Amino acid sequence: MNILSPSILAADFCKLGEQIKEAEAAGARYLHIDVMDGVFVPSISYGMPVMASVRKCTDLFFDVHLMIQKPERYIREFAECGADLINFHLEADVDARSIIYGIRDLGKKVGVTIKPGTAARSVRPYLGLVDMVLVMTVEPGFGGQKIMPHCLEKVGEIRGMAQEMGYNPDIEVDGGITQENVGEAIAAGANVIVAGSAVFRGDIAANVRKLLTGMQGQGSV
Ligand code: DX5
Ligand code: ZN
Repeated sequence: MNILSPSILAADFCKLGEQIKEAEAAGARYLHIDVMDGVFVPSISYGMPVMASVRKCTDLFFDVHLMIQKPERYIREFAECGADLINFHLEADVDARSIIYGIRDLGKKVGVTIKPGTAARSVRPYLGLVDMVLVMTVEPGFGGQKIMPHCLEKVGEIRGMAQEMGYNPDIEVDGGITQENVGEAIAAGANVIVAGSAVFRGDIAANVRKLLTGMQGQGSV
């Protein structure tokens, strides 16, 4: 099942609740929440108070993307303020196994994330332990960038590796996804699609519908 996960980083925060409801009504099933600490990535976004507020206005599945150094410090708080799935970066100075088990112990789903320069094989040891692999298709830190097409090759590699090993994790792509390239991402093997600008710039309902149409019939696996 292919799922659209709009990234609220591109939303208008004066109208955040309204815009989320519009995306949901048009068919989005997840909400992608980008948390940036100004250390792991150059920018700072938002954190627990925003998530806790948004949690009150929607039942959408919260797909949280932590772009923070030493994410283990905040796992419990993110779980408590509404995360359904927590993605952390393998490059963020982590003991990945212990974080994976920590997130599971809190009853949440877990994903490992890689930046464009990190090899596909680096997720191999975790494929049997996670619900999701998030493959960044831009350098993390900012919305509105252009997709780096070579990252889609890694999606295919990871899908192939997982199949060989008998696992079927969700594979999410994030960064520069548009109505024009979303079909390629699905064809490469992704089944969860993050889109920020392509959802929240302009007519949200129409944007969601176009993205969902572009995601259909591409046969991911
Ligand atoms: C970038 C974030 C993305 C970002 C995507 O660091 O992880 O989730 O919001 O935005 P677009 O879709 O505009 O590239
Ligand atoms: Zn993200």
